Amino acid sequence: NQLGVVAVGFNGGQMKKGVEAAPMALIDAGLLTQLRDDLDYEIHHDDIIHYYEKDIPAEDPDHRNMKKPRAVSAVTERLSSQVYNYAKDGKFVLTLGGDHSIAIGTISGTAKAIRERLGREMAVIWVDAHADLNVPEMSPSGNIHGMPMAFLTRLAREDRPDIFGWLKDEHIVSTRKLVYIGLRDVDRGEKQLLREHGIKAFSMHDIDRHGIGRVVEMALAHIGNDTPIHLSFDVDALDPQWAPSTGTPVRGGLTLREGDFICECVHETGNLVAMDLVEVNPSLESVGAAETIRAGCSLVRSALGDTLL
Ligand code: ARG
Ligand code: MN
Ligand code: MN
Ligand code: MN
Repeated sequence: NQLGVVAVGFNGGQMKKGVEAAPMALIDAGLLTQLRDDLDYEIHHDDIIHYYEKDIPAEDPDHRNMKKPRAVSAVTERLSSQVYNYAKDGKFVLTLGGDHSIAIGTISGTAKAIRERLGREMAVIWVDAHADLNVPEMSPSGNIHGMPMAFLTRLAREDRPDIFGWLKDEHIVSTRKLVYIGLRDVDRGEKQLLREHGIKAFSMHDIDRHGIGRVVEMALAHIGNDTPIHLSFDVDALDPQWAPSTGTPVRGGLTLREGDFICECVHETGNLVAMDLVEVNPSLESVGAAETIRAGCSLVRSALGDTLL
């Protein structure tokens, strides 16, 4: 079992400091040791927390309502090739964020590798309170962590090479291959896009109605059983009771057990090729930080095959 790890200490997709400290906190909590010793992964990691200082421009004025567009673009472009380099050899890629804008890098990197290696289109399971599907002009905040899926599906497009113009067809994911789980704070424009494009989405309402077991079953049925899967897990999908230390908490979320269950089921498909864990911010809610980090470690272990018995 070959595991490539990328530690991404990046916070430029939103305004709150602290999320860049998550990879260090997760690793200090013993996450990689557990994956190696308990789950038998052979870990490939440069032992560097990447902050990408050299890629972040001094001048970065807003563009089309996006905040820090050049910084996010340059960092995700670099990250995309880091992830691609692991995925092209068939390694599982685990990325520890950082805010959710980094998914522009991770998902584009795996999508390209899977196309080249298997000639297949990859699916994305996006577990989050938010859809992160805002087109720049309709974003209420201008924060790019609310936009990654728009760029990754080409609902948003930009040709400037220094502002996501580096995203080529091989990096793109089809709206038909995207499934959301856990949604409960979706902006007006995002709801319209979900409807117009028939994107599969399971909200907390759906989970209350059908139960998590049935929802995961329906989500996986939509993807089909021999499609490679990239799991992008925003810790704010969990209820703040379990993961309070995150930049945009929303009450009424998943229990930690429900989050772990999603990860376990996705692992069981045998089709998982990559996972992101994002939006852990240890500097928010000082009492809750340790809990949030523990929750994050648990989600990753579950996705990588830790079983209860
Ligand atoms: N929808 C809001 C926005 O566009 C919140 C996004 C939160 N995203 C996240 N990755 N936590 O700003
Ligand atoms: Mn979120
Ligand atoms: Mn909102
Ligand atoms: Mn998110």
